[in-house]
Amino acid sequence: MAEEKRQPEIPEFVQTARAQIEELDRWQQITEEEARLAYEMALRNELSGGTPTVRQFEQRWRELTGLKYAITTVNGTSAIFSALFGVGVGPGDEVICPTFTWIGSIAPAIFLGARPVFCESDPRTMLIDPEDVRRRITPRTKAIIAVHLWGWVCDMDALMEISRETGIPIIEDCSHAHGATYKGRWVGSIGQVGCWSLQGTKPVSAGEGGVLATNDPEIFDRACLVGQVNRIAGVDLVQEKYRYLQPLGLGMKFRAHPVAIGIASIQLEKLAQLNARRGAYVEAVEQGLAEVPGLEPIPTIPGSQRGGYYGFPVRYVAEEVGGASLEKMVEAINRAGVPATTCPYPLLHTLPLFAEGFDLYTGNRGPLAGDYAGYKKGDLPATEKLVSELIFLPVLSDPIPGAAELIVKSLREAAELVRKL
Ligand SMILES: Cc1ncc(COP(=O)(O)O)c(C=O)c1O
Repeated sequence: MAEEKRQPEIPEFVQTARAQIEELDRWQQITEEEARLAYEMALRNELSGGTPTVRQFEQRWRELTGLKYAITTVNGTSAIFSALFGVGVGPGDEVICPTFTWIGSIAPAIFLGARPVFCESDPRTMLIDPEDVRRRITPRTKAIIAVHLWGWVCDMDALMEISRETGIPIIEDCSHAHGATYKGRWVGSIGQVGCWSLQGTKPVSAGEGGVLATNDPEIFDRACLVGQVNRIAGVDLVQEKYRYLQPLGLGMKFRAHPVAIGIASIQLEKLAQLNARRGAYVEAVEQGLAEVPGLEPIPTIPGSQRGGYYGFPVRYVAEEVGGASLEKMVEAINRAGVPATTCPYPLLHTLPLFAEGFDLYTGNRGPLAGDYAGYKKGDLPATEKLVSELIFLPVLSDPIPGAAELIVKSLREAAELVRKL
């Protein structure tokens, strides 16, 4: 008897991503649309290399950024590695980076043999402080990493002025700021090269993924050579001088998973709506803070439009509520029903890796060994103070009507509570 043929079926989609406040936020990050595409891509074995889905995504990224070249990577960290390699960072070089960012902004530099030089963030804007960058430039400085932290946009005019004067390239880390703009242009398209993380919690999520984009063929070719083994044949390399290295490049592999990029391509089409909703909510809460003693919005740089909204920091002004500690204020906000936190990122110069150093290549070699001086608490006082005054409020992505007003009401209650302590 012939065996009955099994009918293919798509199992029911189960949502696991959770909004930060489920009663107030209708958002579902991943929907059946992403799940279906992943299923279809697996069925047609679109599972490796620069497949049509991957190439379409990169084309869309070029359109959105207005840049000539874009390449996907396995994560944001490898995009930054590719960018640093792209601009020629190597042993003995220094890379300036704010201490207030995620470790992925700078970790790739040490594997290229370069020494991180941490700089201050502006106490008002919480973003890289261009004047402090200037003070830290030496003849060995090979790159500056500008991080558009939590979706706020750096002072790109001031940074590009430094770049023009010194010839040092600016790498924009846009991992928190997908679709944010500066003077009408997507962030990531202003410095010499832009990098984005597409990790699971990011505004455009691949689960794990990254993108690098640039107008500079040299940066692009080197980025492809270092991570896109066997993907570059005939397509991705721009300049004749590197053609002899095709198709294997330098043999390293940071190629993105096509299914991940497929998921991100659906997410990308929803980004404008996500940014509009998150932006409207954040602005409504910020306006409401006028009636909340002790909490102030973080200002934006003129000409910038926030995007991504990966986090929602506000400044705590303890004197306005009788001097209670930051922790007491966070506790009061939580008690009022809002899941607020203190800053979720450790300052990088205080991590044991950068504070004490590390014998990266063994035998007292590498950028964090030998004469590496390390860092101690107090070395970046402006940023240490700034971060000690930040409170992170929940980001709502598809808030129910009146959600911002409810949050503001709870914040006012918390402030009253703290004042009475
Ligand atoms: C500012 C910043 N840069 C870089 C990265 C690294 O990205 P990934 O986790 O995709 O490697 C992250 C990730 O959270 C980040 O927040």
